[in-house]
Order: sequence, then structure tokens, then C-alpha cells
Amino acid sequence: MQSRRLTGSIGIEFRGVDLAQLDDDGFAVIKAALLEHGVVVVRDQNLTPAEHKAFGERFGPLHTHPAAPGVEGHPEILLLQNYGKSRSITEVWHSDVTCEARPPSVSILHSRVLPTYGGDTMWANQYLAYDRLSDGMKRMLEGMRAVHAAFNLESVHPVIRTHPETGRKALFVNAGFTRRFEDMSPEESRPLLDLLVRHASSPDLCYRHQWTEGDLVMWDNRGVMHFAVHDYDEQERVMHRVTVQGDEPR
Ligand code: SIN
Repeated sequence: MQSRRLTGSIGIEFRGVDLAQLDDDGFAVIKAALLEHGVVVVRDQNLTPAEHKAFGERFGPLHTHPAAPGVEGHPEILLLQNYGKSRSITEVWHSDVTCEARPPSVSILHSRVLPTYGGDTMWANQYLAYDRLSDGMKRMLEGMRAVHAAFNLESVHPVIRTHPETGRKALFVNAGFTRRFEDMSPEESRPLLDLLVRHASSPDLCYRHQWTEGDLVMWDNRGVMHFAVHDYDEQERVMHRVTVQGDEPR
């Protein structure tokens, strides 16, 4: 397996590995890289849906999306397709399904059909977003909680969460699901939420992935946010996403 870091803040890429045949030592390397770098790109994969799910299950029990359609015969695999830019729900900075009480920990996205241009995905490191806040802002946010809602689900999560495995603190609000701070109105919350998401998606915290056939990208929703760029017009773009059941954020 060869690896190279993708940016100074987030992401690592592996080549020369077949995730369908990975032994336990190889999996330990990938998992450690995911915890350290937040995003792991693996090139040249061709996993069947069953192999994709089996790889996800090595991280833990799989999560099923509460509303969006799955791949036929595989309800745990979210089918992401081009429904038109105005209907895209992923072209926004978010962590996956944070409206749930136990949002997914790890997401694993495999390209199936790619447009001839565009359709990149971006990720941003939320540990660094936290680290870069001023001491005063850290003090203010510590202990605050925010309401995340969508798909008729609503959950309240800490604004600063501590990763259960790395022990690191990360900023945990996003533009896709976070509606307001607890005990505050949406109008009162909006300016600070906007400021935090802008701060947390600064270009030097991000990796932008240009998809090629056979790419598989996994990320740790507990320490990164992501954004799917919809700039491929009406072209077909099909992705399969497996998510792993997470813990209650703390
Ligand atoms: C997502 O998981 O939000 C979708 C990412 C993508 O389609 O690139």
C-alpha cells in the first residue's frame, strides 16, 4: 500500500490496496489513517454492494438513512443521484444526518457513474476549526447545545463535541441540519451559526476531491464536514454511500 497526504490539514490517499481483500493489519492501517486525517481516499476499487457493506461493517453496525432511497436489495446503501441542482440536499456544508440522536460515525462513498466534468466533493477539518477559535469563543461555545432537524427528526447535540476515539474536540454545527442553538430562536442563532460554518469551511481546512472511476472515499463525520458541489448540469452522477452507526455526540 502506498500513501500520500492530500493537504496539510486533511486527507490521505492510498493506492495498491484492494479493500475487498484487506486483512486485519491492513484494516488497522486504514482506520488509524481515518482517525488521524479525517478523510481517506482509496483509488482503483470496484466493490460490489455486498463488499461495500462488508467493508463498512468492519467499523461497526451499518446505519440506514431515515428518508432517502437505498440501492435496490441493499437498503443500507444510500443511492445518491442527480435530481437537479435545486433539489440537491448535499450541496451544503454538513455532517451526515445530524438530525438523528446517534448520527453516523463513518461514511464510505463509492463512485459508480461520474459526469464528464464537475461533481467534486469537499471536506473540512472540524478539529482544526475548533483549535482555531479564540479562547473567548471556545469558552462561550463550551456547554452550548444546538438543535439539528430534518426528515421529521430533531436532536440536540453539543456545539463542541469530543471524539470518542481520538479524544480531540471538534466544532459540531453545520449548515445542512443545525437550525438554532438550544433556548434561542432561529433568528438569534443565525448570525453565529453562519459565522461558525464560514470559519469551519475556510479553504485551508479543506480537501477537494475530483472523482475518477474506482474511487472510494471514507470520512469521519465526528471530525469533518463535507459539501457536494453540484456543477455538472443534467449529467448522470451516481454514488453509493454506506454509513456506520455512530454514538450519541458528547
Ligand atoms: C454526501 O454524502 O453528502 C454526498 C457526497 C457526494 O455526493 O459527493
